[in-house]
Amino acid sequence: MWFTFILLLPQLTLSAHCPSGCACNNRGAAKCIGDISDIPPLDPKTTFLLLLQNTNIKVLKDRSFQSFSLLLRLMITHSAIDTIQPEAFYGAPQFRSIKLSSNALSVFPPKVFSEQSNLEQLQLDGNQIVSISSKLFEGLVNLKELDLSKNRISQLDADVFQNLTELIYLNLAGNQLRNLPKMLFHNLRQLESLVLSSNRLETLESGSFDHLSKLCFLSLHKNQIREIPPRLFWHLPSLLNLSMSGNQLQYIPAESFYFLPNLTMLTLFKNPLISLPDQLMGYMPRLQELYLYDTSLVTVPWNLFANMTNLRFLNLHLNEKLNFLPKDLFCCLPNLNKLSLKYNDLRALEPDLFSNLTSLEILMLNDNKLESLPATIFSNTPRLEKLDLSCNHLKYLPGDVFTHTRALNVLSLSGNSWKCDCSIMGIAEWIRDNPRLVNDSDKGVACYEPYHLQNHSLQTLTHAELKCGQVVSQTMIMTTSIISTQVPATSTPQSSTASSTNARTTATSTAPSITSTFATTASRFSPTSDHIYIKQGNDYNNDLAFYEKIVLDNGPEIVHNNYYGGWVYLWSVPSTGPFSGFMTALYIVHLVTGVVLIVATWYALYRLHKVMWMLQKVTMGDNQRIMTRRVRRFSQTLEEA
Ligand SMILES: *[C@@H]1O[C@H](CO)[C@@H](O)[C@H](O)[C@H]1NC(C)=O
Ligand SMILES: *[C@@H]1O[C@H](CO)[C@@H](O)[C@H](O)[C@H]1NC(C)=O
Ligand SMILES: *[C@@H]1O[C@H](CO)[C@@H](O)[C@H](O)[C@H]1NC(C)=O
Ligand SMILES: *[C@@H]1O[C@H](CO)[C@@H](O)[C@H](O)[C@H]1NC(C)=O
Ligand SMILES: *[C@@H]1O[C@H](CO)[C@@H](O)[C@H](O)[C@H]1NC(C)=O
Ligand SMILES: *[C@@H]1O[C@H](CO)[C@@H](O)[C@H](O)[C@H]1NC(C)=O
Ligand SMILES: *[C@@H]1O[C@H](CO)[C@@H](O)[C@H](O)[C@H]1NC(C)=O
Repeated sequence: MWFTFILLLPQLTLSAHCPSGCACNNRGAAKCIGDISDIPPLDPKTTFLLLLQNTNIKVLKDRSFQSFSLLLRLMITHSAIDTIQPEAFYGAPQFRSIKLSSNALSVFPPKVFSEQSNLEQLQLDGNQIVSISSKLFEGLVNLKELDLSKNRISQLDADVFQNLTELIYLNLAGNQLRNLPKMLFHNLRQLESLVLSSNRLETLESGSFDHLSKLCFLSLHKNQIREIPPRLFWHLPSLLNLSMSGNQLQYIPAESFYFLPNLTMLTLFKNPLISLPDQLMGYMPRLQELYLYDTSLVTVPWNLFANMTNLRFLNLHLNEKLNFLPKDLFCCLPNLNKLSLKYNDLRALEPDLFSNLTSLEILMLNDNKLESLPATIFSNTPRLEKLDLSCNHLKYLPGDVFTHTRALNVLSLSGNSWKCDCSIMGIAEWIRDNPRLVNDSDKGVACYEPYHLQNHSLQTLTHAELKCGQVVSQTMIMTTSIISTQVPATSTPQSSTASSTNARTTATSTAPSITSTFATTASRFSPTSDHIYIKQGNDYNNDLAFYEKIVLDNGPEIVHNNYYGGWVYLWSVPSTGPFSGFMTALYIVHLVTGVVLIVATWYALYRLHKVMWMLQKVTMGDNQRIMTRRVRRFSQTLEEA
């Protein structure tokens, strides 16, 4: 309505009936600006609309408008009015609008509007009103719009709005209200907008909004609300916008936002929320945008967004404590287009976290503490175009992590702590092959460690620099000398791929040949049981305990390693598999045979020794006898001769 008036302004012309300082037009609108201290003497027969702006009027005197029997809309704004006499509007019951914004009014005579049963619009914003008599609005039975914002109201009587049954818009923003009587809005059954933002509300009474079945907009932001009663919003089926941001909420009762089927906007940001209940959001198919930032949440329930099936923009960011996202959190957002998770405290993400976000185009993950990402995390987001991973703690990314993001055209990777060992080659080669996708490579997508490669661009890394392809570990399968030592792998420059594919299965020369034969047999017989691979720290794993340690996965139960001269030796006795029983038996047979052989050898040696000794003795005796006999025979022969 004010707008209509403003449209008329160009047609205002000075006329004979128009006092100086005023502009009047032939449709009955008059506008007076400047040094006026009372209502100007306009033609009462032609004035329908009167606008007085930036005037010096201080007092609205009794029956000021009695002669203006056709005046429908009155605006006296940005003036100095501080007093309204008790009968100021008497004699002018035809008023439709009264606008007294931006004056210095603090009190109103209780009955000043009692004749204004035709009034539809009353704007008293930007004054100094401290309190309102419960009789003030009693007669305004046709009022549709009431603006009391930007005053100093700290308290309202329960019955102050009682007769305003036609009210559609009520603005109480920017006051000093601490609480609201439970019955304050009960008669406002036509109310569509209720603005209570920027007050000092600390609590809200249960049932405060129970009769507002036509309410579409409810603003409660920028208050001090610490808690809300359960089911506070359950009787607001028409609600479109609900703002609760900028309060002191730490908890919200379960099911608080149920039965709001038409909701299109819900704000909860800037609350020190510690946790949210498992059942909070009812079906809200029209909600398209959600902002949840500046909270103290550490995590959120997995189904928080499950009922917001048409969400397009989700800004769950700037939550400096948020460090865990449940794997199904984004399960049910098939239309989500933009997801911002930036400036949280995320350290790791679940591999399936984004697996249902088939419409996702923009994903902001920058400024978190991510150290790596699961290889399959983007395997189901084919429409992803922009991805920001800058300013994390990324040391490593799987080389195939972007294989499925065919639409990707802007990727930010700077500000990370890349660890340049062989495992980085996959992603380094991907960057080299897709240089135009990385929009911040000039800002530094460079190694952080080891020190001698610091600031070395990932794109230009070579296998030679990383000393890749070198055989750095040996896998030996032996059945003897079982020594078990846990070895830190930090000093062993190797990667998961390098060690699993390049590791040679050899028996060293020190191992007896029988063992080497056995090893070959073992690996041929049970190919799965000796499937050993080494997981290193920069492989995806969020458990810090696993970093910088050799982790053996899916290996045989009895796996051993030893660290010698920069080499890691692994060997195992297969304990499962189809031949394990046979192997163990064979092993025992070998062992027993060995012992038996040793004992038998000793015994044999002993016997041999004894026999030899006796033989020697016997031989010596025989020799003597033979000699004697020979000597005797010789002497006999000599005698005969
Ligand atoms: C306004 O409310 C009062 C009670 O507060 C009631 O007595 C009166 O009849 C109402 N006025 C109109 C015009 O409805
Ligand atoms: C929700 O919105 C639709 C479309 O604007 C409207 O037809 C329907 O009446 C609304 N539902 C409620 C409960 O107000
Ligand atoms: C209500 O929410 C919609 C959608 O978010 C927004 O465009 C609109 O400006 C909001 N209206 C009010 C009065 O807050
Ligand atoms: C979705 O809302 C309905 C009520 O509208 C509720 O019964 C259901 O539990 C909600 N689902 C989730 C996952 O919160
Ligand atoms: C993905 O969405 C479909 C249907 O919308 C659902 O059946 C499935 O459970 C969802 N998957 C995940 C991982 O939540
Ligand atoms: C790279 O793209 C992101 C958006 O994904 C943008 O915020 C950033 O400013 C861009 N950086 C440069 C250096 O252009
Ligand atoms: C890498 O760059 C940073 C900042 O430019 C510098 O402080 C650091 O000394 C550099 N490191 C090496 C090894 O050059």
